[in-house]
Amino acid sequence: MPFSDYTTALVTGASGGIGAAVVERFRREGLEVHAVARSRAPLEKLAARTGCVPHVIDVADTAALADLAAKVPFDVLVNNAGVDTPRKLLDAQAADIDLLVDVNLRAVLHLCRLVVPGMAARDRGHVVNITSIAGNYNFGGNSTYHATKAAVAMLSNQLRIDTFGRRVRVTEICPGRVATDIFAHVHGDTPEVRARFIDGFELPEAADIADAIAFAIAAPRSMNVGHMEITPTLQVMGGLQTARPDASAT
Ligand SMILES: NC(=O)c1ccc[n+]([C@@H]2O[C@H](COP(=O)([O-])OP(=O)(O)OC[C@H]3O[C@@H](n4cnc5c(N)ncnc54)[C@H](OP(=O)(O)O)[C@@H]3O)[C@@H](O)[C@H]2O)c1
Repeated sequence: MPFSDYTTALVTGASGGIGAAVVERFRREGLEVHAVARSRAPLEKLAARTGCVPHVIDVADTAALADLAAKVPFDVLVNNAGVDTPRKLLDAQAADIDLLVDVNLRAVLHLCRLVVPGMAARDRGHVVNITSIAGNYNFGGNSTYHATKAAVAMLSNQLRIDTFGRRVRVTEICPGRVATDIFAHVHGDTPEVRARFIDGFELPEAADIADAIAFAIAAPRSMNVGHMEITPTLQVMGGLQTARPDASAT
């Protein structure tokens, strides 16, 4: 379904990074875009620049999401809001687990529950779930994040089954490292963090991810782009570690 088949879109996590870039891209395509995040000031700036409709909502607030979904019949839903608190599970904090499950998974499930039935009834809609390579590959230190992203990857497949026979398309966008402020949000906004994750690397920008999403949406009605893994060219996943038993532990 090209963009012209759609009228309205909901983008979560729209105050910066990938979400803001998606809002900008969708506005250029002429959609009425509803932009959700917690930070009022950047949302209002985005609205002034693009003409999107800003909503200061925490995606953990299911009642607020239900209120919004009841008012607008959304044709496109982009579940983008995401957080990370990197820790292996041996060091996990209870509050971090709850936060990641609430934002990265629970909100996605509720928004799909609230929005997808309308899409199915209208025989028209597109759900875009932003997961991560962390949903498909293992690397150290982010166990709850891996678990929440893997759950949304499976949900993306499942939605296709649940809406079988209706023209509801589902695309999982699975990024590797993208040059956004996520690393500053997770590790602190310092020169060391920029040096560790951004400076000197050749990385996709948020607008590149928005272009990939636009490709999936503009694809012919007969075509569902199910999964796009998008990494820097100079990034690979994989690795193998073998440890000898720790003699002091036996
Ligand atoms: N950048 C990467 O390298 C990368 C790689 C793989 C996957 N991803 C995924 O891509 C998505 C976007 O990431 P990004 O890089 O654009 O991150 P970002 O720059 O940190 O942006 C995250 C967005 O999520 C919003 N958000 C966080 N908690 C929220 C909540 N409780 N309610 C509503 N909005 C909330 C933030 O807005 P407020 O703080 O204003 O609420 C912000 O707009 C995330 O799902 C992330 O996991 C990113």
